[in-house]
Amino acid sequence: MTVQLKKPGSAAVPIHLIDRASFAKRSARLPAAMKRWLAAVGFDGAPDTHALIADTGGRLQAVWAGVRDVQHPFVLAALPRTLPIGRYRLGSQGLAADIEAAALSWELGSYVFDLYKPAKREAAELMLPPSAAATRALLLAAATAATRDLVNTPAEHMGPAELAEAARLVAEQHGATFKHTVGDALLKAGFPAVHAVGRASTRAPRLIELNWGHARHPKLTLVGKGVCFDSGGLDIKSADGMRLMKKDMGGAANVLGLATLVMALQLPVRLQVLIPAVDNAIAGNAYRPGDVIKTRSGVHIEIGNTDAEGRVILCDALAYGAESKPALMIDMATLTGAARIALGGQLPALFCRDMALARALVDRGLALHDPLWHMPLWGDYHPLIESDIADIVNTGRNTMAGAINAANFLADFVPADIEWLHIDLFAWNDGARPGRPVGGEAQTLRTLLAYLQERYAAAQPEIDRRGRSR
Ligand code: BES
Ligand code: ZN
Ligand code: ZN
Repeated sequence: MTVQLKKPGSAAVPIHLIDRASFAKRSARLPAAMKRWLAAVGFDGAPDTHALIADTGGRLQAVWAGVRDVQHPFVLAALPRTLPIGRYRLGSQGLAADIEAAALSWELGSYVFDLYKPAKREAAELMLPPSAAATRALLLAAATAATRDLVNTPAEHMGPAELAEAARLVAEQHGATFKHTVGDALLKAGFPAVHAVGRASTRAPRLIELNWGHARHPKLTLVGKGVCFDSGGLDIKSADGMRLMKKDMGGAANVLGLATLVMALQLPVRLQVLIPAVDNAIAGNAYRPGDVIKTRSGVHIEIGNTDAEGRVILCDALAYGAESKPALMIDMATLTGAARIALGGQLPALFCRDMALARALVDRGLALHDPLWHMPLWGDYHPLIESDIADIVNTGRNTMAGAINAANFLADFVPADIEWLHIDLFAWNDGARPGRPVGGEAQTLRTLLAYLQERYAAAQPEIDRRGRSR
């Protein structure tokens, strides 16, 4: 942690926040030497820039940091790895800081994936007096970093077994139960589609399951696509198309991040996490285009393309999740290239049967700078996924509406009376921004957490009264 929740000592250097408009107003009143210095280094309060101020003895006295919006979750993210190594605190001369945003952005600005090579330098530390806002921010940052680490870890070191181990650790840390059904046991347990996709890998497929919470609380089920490497299977991907496919378990990583937060913040829900974890590999026993699989729910699916494997493994997991009638089921998946063509990497696509809920989530995502965008679950396109010899096929009839076809496919496994969100996400930053290096990314984590906290807040006092009996 580069944010320390301790009352800052007098040695900590103050960071004063300022935006362009207030800098312009203020600069006229600055002492002449200071004004000259800031002009010399070209500081004008622009976001993600800063100026170091020395005292007359040549010691670092203060930092002026340019910001656009003090509430932005990445407001200070450019600082921890550019400021001189040392201890800092929030200063009092500029704009008032938002503690949660300051702590979150500092911590995320310190993130590096250093499993294989050390960071170029240490991060500077921010001292913050302990507070609930700072604690929440550090939880969010830790969940984000854990999600990024899972995605960034190469497929060789993050196979179905390692993903299960990561889930087991999360379960252990929060007192959840962990269970996984591995290899041929999937057939007996009724997960034929997960088995079919994953059976060609030397690394056995599995269905990972976590359960947490009290029976009397509403059930929340999170389902994450855990394709540890997507070669495309027999419908093999091109070299370019395969290059980033270690991240095809990004849905699972995000779901684990969200589950961690739900448990750490003790939301009054009965949480179930389901992760079908597989490699989409090529071998003599690989599933083939043209095969028909009788899935868990009894729906027969035809394989139009083995590269559309995500919806195949998810259909068994969604059907299983639905059996215990959750009040809300959320799935997250790096499901389609089509969603990326439509929205790019920064905007996960949200599919939801409830228009009002979808719109509320989009608004919330914009407000929290953790966006997602509503796309239609357009039932009239369902004929595009109807098969001549089975109930449905895992590809569309043509190349149109690929992300909607995938969502319509999943919808066939979620009964209409279950509230359901499907999030088709990229889980990756393909360009660096402060606090968001190129690599794995947690997306919609803060938005979904805020939604869940609000949705279940009403239940909280009741739980407090009864006490928790976990
Ligand atoms: N994992 C991919 C989708 C993907 C590709 C997500 C690139 C993010 C970036 C998925 O399994 C896939 O290959 N989907 C195919 C489906 C098609 C064969 C119907 C796709 O989108 O091209
Ligand atoms: Zn694929
Ligand atoms: Zn995939």
